[in-house]
Amino acid sequence: MGLLDKHKFIETNATLLLVGSLLVVSIGGIVEIAPLFYLENTIEDVEGMRPYSPLELTGRDVYVREGCYVCHSQMIRPMRDEVERYGHYSLAAESQYDHPFQWGSKRTGPDLARVGGRYSDEWHVDHLSDPQSVVPESVMPKYGYLTKAKIEGEYIEDLLKTHKLVGVPYTSEMIEVAQADFKAQADPDSDYDGLIERYPGAQVRNFDNEPGISEMDALIAYMQMLGTLVDFSTFTPDASR
Ligand code: HEC
Repeated sequence: MGLLDKHKFIETNATLLLVGSLLVVSIGGIVEIAPLFYLENTIEDVEGMRPYSPLELTGRDVYVREGCYVCHSQMIRPMRDEVERYGHYSLAAESQYDHPFQWGSKRTGPDLARVGGRYSDEWHVDHLSDPQSVVPESVMPKYGYLTKAKIEGEYIEDLLKTHKLVGVPYTSEMIEVAQADFKAQADPDSDYDGLIERYPGAQVRNFDNEPGISEMDALIAYMQMLGTLVDFSTFTPDASR
């Protein structure tokens, strides 16, 4: 009975109980947290994931600048209703090249993590120019001016370099030919073999169907690739292997 008596001693001494609890909680905390400092990467590598192409990255910048994340999330949670509506739940690897990430915290509009390929480019142009012409009850603002904002990609090298600085594995070759890749992706008549080699699965076409490259081209290139890089017909998560 000696042990139980000591237990009573701790329980009736508030300071000692506090110190004891802190000690036990700290041990539990250290056991959980310490290993994270020794892991180089906590994200499971997934086949198909690659850094954004220069045009997609530009479109992503437009997305952030226009505040699309204020109304749209990019994170499908593993709940049945979400998976049935949007597709396979989002993987950590799918945001691994996102700086900053676009998970979002509000869904005034639908989640966009897998919007790629769901609509045609023309649909996106119509919808972005005048959302109410496609979905009459929509509260989404109009972004038609993006078609008029022509861009040349003159700063794209710097943009890639900045992302490289924060850990995105852009190679020196990718940075060197960034502007050419930027232009090639919006021009189906260009020589885009190198682009596809550097960014497998990159979609090449004139996205807004207007001459020249516009912010609309970049934004749609970004929309159309979202969620399309990982092939979920062959993907099995590590945990279930
Ligand atoms: C004020 C909130 C708001 C903002 C800001 C906003 N949207 Fe939306 N968006 C919505 C709503 C609501 C819908 C659903 C109705 C509709 O389709 O218009 C929607 C629908 C969409 C859809 C169709 C998704 C689907 O699966 O049907 C796309 C794509 C989209 N938005 C892209 C964008 C982009 C790109 C931007 C930034 C340039 C943006 N949205 C900014 C509210 C917003």
